Amino acid sequence: MFRVHVIDKFNKDRYADQLEQQFRLRHDIYIGERGWMDIARADGREIDQFDNDDAIYLLGITSAGEVVGGSRLVPSLKPHLMSEVFPNLAPGGVPRGKGIYEWTRIFVAPALRTPSRPALAAGLIYCGIQEYCVQSQIENLSIVCETYWIDRLASLGWKPQLLGPVYSHQGSDIVGLISDTNTSALNATRGFYGIGKPVLQDIAGEQAILEHQHTEQKSAAARR
Ligand code: COA
Repeated sequence: MFRVHVIDKFNKDRYADQLEQQFRLRHDIYIGERGWMDIARADGREIDQFDNDDAIYLLGITSAGEVVGGSRLVPSLKPHLMSEVFPNLAPGGVPRGKGIYEWTRIFVAPALRTPSRPALAAGLIYCGIQEYCVQSQIENLSIVCETYWIDRLASLGWKPQLLGPVYSHQGSDIVGLISDTNTSALNATRGFYGIGKPVLQDIAGEQAILEHQHTEQKSAAARR
């Protein structure tokens, strides 16, 4: 279906097109579909102060270079959504540490969702997150989310723990969570979706997709 690509400040220039696709798809989904009007932007890109050089994106990218899903991790030692906007969700202290990253902006393109049952596309992103955390010595994710996610993450074999009370925010009940990332959660998530192999793109595959895309763009330009 797709591989999950890790994009950070070191390789973001090679993924400029995909990062742009991501911001536009996020706008379509979070504003157009979810109706989160407080983050709407006239330029049609959903982008906030945490989309900076500290952000690490895990994007589901097809072999044709199309972004169809993704998520974002931000180091908890840097400013992040929970520390800057929702510290009240963690009254005992916002979790911070080298091995703690904040997880935000999980999405899958509507065409890849499967109503009434969990979408494999979402499973690939969840596995990509766990794989990346295991290989990067990230041990915990902090999360600002709707209460829906407490049971949803538990069903995947993650171990979310509440950091504080439930707050009502623009019509939704939201909470702060902390969850473990480790091989046990990775294996449980793989088992839930029947995913048997790693989903993260390796460097060779990354080059192949970007070269394919470059060739397509050159051919399209030559045809014009
Ligand atoms: N509250 C209530 N219901 C929710 C929900 C929420 N916050 N998020 C999802 N659901 C619903 C879904 O609409 C779906 O309903 P359906 O089967 O009747 O269509 C059902 O719960 C199953 O959802 P789930 O199994 O969790 O979906 P998924 O794992 O296949 O995909 C997402 C999950 C988040 C990737 C996908 O729903 C998506 O891209 N949503 C838009 C982006 C978003 O809201 N992200 C979360 C906040 S950052």
